[in-house]
Amino acid sequence: MNDPRITRVLVSESELQARVAELGRQITSDYAEHPPLLVGVLKGAFVFMADLARAIDLSVDVDFMAVSSYGSATRSSGVVRIVKDLDSDLTGRHVLIVEDIIDSGLTLQYLRKNLQARGPASVEVCALLLKEGLQKVDPQLKYVGFSIPPEFVIGYGLDVAEVYRNLPYIAQYTP
Ligand code: IMP
Ligand code: MG
Repeated sequence: MNDPRITRVLVSESELQARVAELGRQITSDYAEHPPLLVGVLKGAFVFMADLARAIDLSVDVDFMAVSSYGSATRSSGVVRIVKDLDSDLTGRHVLIVEDIIDSGLTLQYLRKNLQARGPASVEVCALLLKEGLQKVDPQLKYVGFSIPPEFVIGYGLDVAEVYRNLPYIAQYTP
C-alpha cells in the first residue's frame, strides 16, 4: 500500500509466515495429547488465527470472542466489554487464547480471568506480538511470535480506525 503513514515494515510477510509455522509446530507437539480450543480475539487476531490454525497439525476447535476496551484509539483502559461471546462451553477444555498484540496487558488480564472462571482444564495464551516494557504485570504468555518496540503498529489484522487490517506485514504507523 502506498501510504506515507506506513513508515517502516517491522515484520515482513516472509518473517510472519516462518514464525507462524514454528509456533504451529510447537503447539502441535505441546498439545498432541489434548488438542486445544483456539479462542481468537476479534477483530485483530483474525488473520493470525487463520494462519496459525492451519499451521497446527491437530484436530483443533476454533471459536471467537469480540471485546472492546474503553479508551482512546491508541490506548486501552483495561475496562473491557464483551461484544461477542464464545459459542463453546469451556468446561474441561484446553483453551488457547490467540491474541494479536499485548500492549498494557490489561485486555488479556481481563480475558484470562473471564475464561478461567468457566471451568476449563487449562488456559494459555499465544500472542503474535508483545510490546516490550509496557506491562505492569507479567502477561504470562506461553507463546509469543515477536517482541517489538513500543510503537503503534498496523497490518496482519491490526488496525487504526478499522483501516490497514489487510496488510500482509506488520508496519509502524505514524499519523
Ligand atoms: P492492551 O489491553 O493495552 O494490552 O491492548 C491490547 C489491544 O489493544 C490489542 O488487542 C489491540 O486491539 C489494541 N492495540 C494495542 N496496541 C496496538 C497497536 O500497536 N496497533 C493496533 N492495535 C493495538
Ligand atoms: Mg484487539
